[in-house]
Amino acid sequence: MDKLIIEGGSPLFGEALVSGAKNAALPLMAASILSDEPLKLDNIPKLGDLITMGRLLDYMGGKVTLYPQIDGQLHEQAHLDMSSLKLPEAPHELVKTMRASALVLGPLLARHGRARVSLPGGCAIGVRPIDLHLKALSQMGATFDLSQGDVIARAPVGGLKGAKINFETVTVTGTENVMMAAVLAKGRTIISNAAREPEVTDTAKALISMGAKIKGLETDELIIEGTEYLSGANHTVMPDRVEAATLIIACALAGGRCSIVGAPVGALAAVIDKLIDSGVNISILGQTITIESSQEPLKAVNVTTSPYPGFPTDAQAQFMALMTVARGASIITETIFENRFMHVSELRRLGADIALEGRSAVVNGVLKLSAAPLTASDLRASASLILAALVARGQSVVHRVYHLDRGYDRLDEKLRRLGAKIERVKDR
Ligand code: UD1
Repeated sequence: MDKLIIEGGSPLFGEALVSGAKNAALPLMAASILSDEPLKLDNIPKLGDLITMGRLLDYMGGKVTLYPQIDGQLHEQAHLDMSSLKLPEAPHELVKTMRASALVLGPLLARHGRARVSLPGGCAIGVRPIDLHLKALSQMGATFDLSQGDVIARAPVGGLKGAKINFETVTVTGTENVMMAAVLAKGRTIISNAAREPEVTDTAKALISMGAKIKGLETDELIIEGTEYLSGANHTVMPDRVEAATLIIACALAGGRCSIVGAPVGALAAVIDKLIDSGVNISILGQTITIESSQEPLKAVNVTTSPYPGFPTDAQAQFMALMTVARGASIITETIFENRFMHVSELRRLGADIALEGRSAVVNGVLKLSAAPLTASDLRASASLILAALVARGQSVVHRVYHLDRGYDRLDEKLRRLGAKIERVKDR
């Protein structure tokens, strides 16, 4: 297990390149199950959850090459050939750390008619059931039993049938799961109140290049005509908007001048708007976002998380780190997950003034933070603590960074290259 030692107070300068999006790569890897032909994905970020997904596909009998070495050089690719899939199962050992393992359920049911999938784990940021996935798939004719913590799923004789699905809550992986099931189902599926997250659209685009018929991309109603066969495809994973937001906030906090290169600018609109409101000096040229220190102090602004195109819950903890040193009081309201304020107690250890009131955190900006030993509790909370430690006076230590490594592609390395004093060492 590693820990990070961070000496606060260094401004950041230079360029950081945004990696591929974890939340697009995960459903895209699961989509390989839908075809007997190879799926080649480019711009695959190097992070723990994708290695877990690779192991899972490999366990099922697929031929999986992640990050191939070509001419001695590591390539950010995944080559996935699921034609030899024998075991449509996702065991607890492999999926206990990763909620996205549920994404194999829809493809397995559609392609193999059965699946056994351990109920997912992942970040401890709330109850996070998959009841909406199961309800929608059962509308398509699937049946489910629960045995020893596993969901045992079966498609009806003749395969899944198209259905009218209306999600009562917007669910990102739920939408992806049902979309992947529907592309090989008989007839038409309409998904209403579908998630519009850019990662859903990226997955849909790859499915379309495999031969799927999907209409309504980027809207909250997806119309899918099932087909009998999907081919292989090559697809480049979109850049990670959460990683980009994290790097932008790091630069806004630390000061200096940095450029975040290859950012999905359109997908970041809600975050960029709030950063501009709080006085962060941002300029955008093509896919490059440049952040430069300004003489003016940051202003407190309120943020409420909501499904895309609203402010992403995955950037809430990092934005809160920024607000801890802004002038005034900001109210940060979390509407997606009921337990996503675990970073608050750790930020307080750095001297942040934050009061929790139900689903809101009231952050009173302070003039300075001071270093402390910190413990990461979930993926985005880890990032938030690292960002705050970049401006805290003295040396902070962030323990349990395995949470960070699940979802970020070498964030500490990217920050170090920008000039942050951040060192990774073995913890115990
Ligand atoms: C995805 C993202 C995650 C992000 C989240 C919200 C991936 C791999 N993960 O997670 O990074 O934080 O979207 O943008 O893409 N819910 C139910 N029943 C269900 C499904 C969801 O009650 O069957 C609830 C959840 O508990 C939560 C809300 O719906 O309160 C939204 O969750 P959802 O969009 O499904 O999150 P994930 O897809 O797990």
